[in-house]
Amino acid sequence: MTVVEPSPSPIVLDSIAEVREASRRARAAGQTIGLVPTMGALHEGHARLIDACRARCDHVVVSIYVNPTQFGPGEDLDRYPRTLEADLAICRERGVDVVFAPKDREMYPQGTIATKIEVGAAGTILEGAIRPGHFQGVATVVLKLFGIVVPDRAYFGRKDFQQQLIIRKMVDDLNVPVLIEVVPTVRERDGLALSSRNRFLDPEDREAATVLFWALERAKSVVKRGERNAERVAEVLAETIEAESRATLDYAVVVDAETLETKPTIVDPARSAALVAARFGAVRLIDNTLLA
Ligand code: PAJ
Repeated sequence: MTVVEPSPSPIVLDSIAEVREASRRARAAGQTIGLVPTMGALHEGHARLIDACRARCDHVVVSIYVNPTQFGPGEDLDRYPRTLEADLAICRERGVDVVFAPKDREMYPQGTIATKIEVGAAGTILEGAIRPGHFQGVATVVLKLFGIVVPDRAYFGRKDFQQQLIIRKMVDDLNVPVLIEVVPTVRERDGLALSSRNRFLDPEDREAATVLFWALERAKSVVKRGERNAERVAEVLAETIEAESRATLDYAVVVDAETLETKPTIVDPARSAALVAARFGAVRLIDNTLLA
């Protein structure tokens, strides 16, 4: 008979001091510390980040915090799904050691903070153009989380392409001693990238939303067949998405995967990325792919 050991529950902490203490003990015991920052409503995409962290780090911390400073006025802060019990079950299954789930008053005791991370031009285009201040809010809370957990490694999804790039740049520019690991996008069987917002799609929009994946696949295949004109590839993306009547296109671009710059010619497909954003009813979705 095989005895299956129940996995121990993660310790759920809401105070910065306790998380620091847990990290201090882990480090004193010679353990490496990994952090997976999230806003909760965990799905298989998050779980894959946790798995990557678990495989590499001894002490695994998942933060669950819907950070108000990265939401603009009129955005979905209040409607953002909060599913703590289900999130904790996933964390338990995946062997998380500590869940840090702070309240706003713990993260922003005065309601706001004076010091904010300026992320430069990469933060004002694409998602940043549509959501002014978003990446400043993201970078600032991520740096706070790094200061609280003091991880050796932190895990981010390629799903949020601009976010992982901005975080890598911040860590590089400010010599933050955290190694950033980027995990490939996890998708549904029909190609739709997993997202906490997918649950808000009505059935028709849910089906229509796969067009983002197909547009990216088409772009990849025209590049594979030899197309090197970036604008032409961006047109393929836009045409494919606009052919879906339920989709309202926000942007479809081909950019340098390390700088987000648009260049007329795709020199190295592996260093080029296609990024798309579209709305389906009230739900805004983003997706991307490297072009090789
Ligand atoms: P959230 O949207 O909860 O995402 C947490 C992490 O999960 C991010 O690094 C995101 O890229 C990754 N992720 C989401 N969907 C994924 C998928 N389908 N495949 C792979 N990874 C996926 O991103 C945030 O939270 C916040 O901005 C945060 C970084 C926590 C700062 O508040």
